[in-house]
Amino acid sequence: MEEKQNREQWGSKIGFILATAGSAVGLGNIWRFPYIAGVNGGAAFILIYIAAILLIGYPLMCTEVALGRRTQKNPVGAFASLSKGKSWRFVGGLIVLVAFFILSYYSVIGGWSLAYMTKSVIGGFKPTFNYEELFTGHISQVWEPIIWHGIFMILTIVIIESGVLNGIQKWSKILMPGLFILLLALAIRSMTLSGASEGIAFFLKPDFSKITFGTIQAAISQAFYSLSIGMGPLITYGSYLSKKDNIPDNVGWVAGADTTVAIIAGLAIFPAVFAMGYKPNAGAGLAFITLPAVFSQMAGGSFFGFIFFVLLSVAALTSAMSLLEVVVAWIIDEKGWNRRKASIGIGILVFIVGIPATLGYSVLSDVKFLGMDLLDTYDFITNNIVLPITGLFTAIFAAYIWKVEYAMEEINTPKGKITFGSFYRFLIMVIIPIAVCFIMIMNLIEKFGA
Ligand code: TRP
Repeated sequence: MEEKQNREQWGSKIGFILATAGSAVGLGNIWRFPYIAGVNGGAAFILIYIAAILLIGYPLMCTEVALGRRTQKNPVGAFASLSKGKSWRFVGGLIVLVAFFILSYYSVIGGWSLAYMTKSVIGGFKPTFNYEELFTGHISQVWEPIIWHGIFMILTIVIIESGVLNGIQKWSKILMPGLFILLLALAIRSMTLSGASEGIAFFLKPDFSKITFGTIQAAISQAFYSLSIGMGPLITYGSYLSKKDNIPDNVGWVAGADTTVAIIAGLAIFPAVFAMGYKPNAGAGLAFITLPAVFSQMAGGSFFGFIFFVLLSVAALTSAMSLLEVVVAWIIDEKGWNRRKASIGIGILVFIVGIPATLGYSVLSDVKFLGMDLLDTYDFITNNIVLPITGLFTAIFAAYIWKVEYAMEEINTPKGKITFGSFYRFLIMVIIPIAVCFIMIMNLIEKFGA
């Protein structure tokens, strides 16, 4: 493939940092991390999590960004141009494919979130509602969730169609600081409710007796998920990073922002949940059932409910942008499409592929895979099966095919505050592949095992 002469670039370091943080900060930070931390030893878990980020997540992120920047290509082009045979190209292909499928169901959830944002304005959250029924009632309709899924995809397409600078960077600069301010406002409100301390204790009270192999596995998996590792956005966004910007410093900001948001999310959610007398949980149940009920009990709750769903929608949107960009960059680079045709064409295809995931709660509710509905099946296959494989291949590729020396050279040029050396070499060649194999096997045993 010909090297593209005028590939777009971020306008500034901040553009890269905010866009990449936008990819990382998503549903994982808001509805997944706080609960996992709470049930796995609170502050003790958070320490393990930070270790997983520093030793595995952060070095892999830098490696992916370096792959993108070195080759100036999408994941397929990146793997292909640094290896000889065709076989590594296949890993890039798997990454693009997984980004496509994740987006198809991520957008369904983004749609629910937009719907709830609207509900909080129209009608508000009343204490008399049955929130469980409200949610199942919403998702088990046929048309409404599809329409919201479509609206969410249109927003994503419009931004990606405008390009790296005028689309992704411009919107990340507005949406990410906005998200942070809303989250802080929510955390302050939540922590000043009377009875908040119980929730803070649930989330943060250190309990080292909870730390087991399983906890370490949970920490590593969460770090992968939260940092968007193994799915292409880091390679793709790295390909728009200027050769003048240092990789470890800028990626450090992204990892730091992602972790900070996850911790503040815990402080925004659980104090309110406990103060209003509810039980903590995670995932869709937390965001769409427990929290609306919690808000319905709070003074000014509809307002804070609205803020929460704006936050959730923004978090989902900036992640969705990065996923669509992975596929769009691939088709522009490799198939020569123009950006407009690529964004709209792929966007529509993603929308169509996401439809069965929404229908899994209505007309397709009998279709089950290992007891999971369709949306959970998409999630399980992409996150628990394919993601560790792509993560593992990325580490092995950088270490042994591209070669650590070249990876390090790319990572360390130009020199920044942080320099990668022999410790990185040891991590990427030995520790990271072993750790990823470990979580892959544990994930499979958990699901299929005795
Ligand atoms: N990092 C996102 C979150 O925390 C989820 C995610 C995983 C993601 N892989 C991704 C987002 C790839 C965008 C691209 O919710």
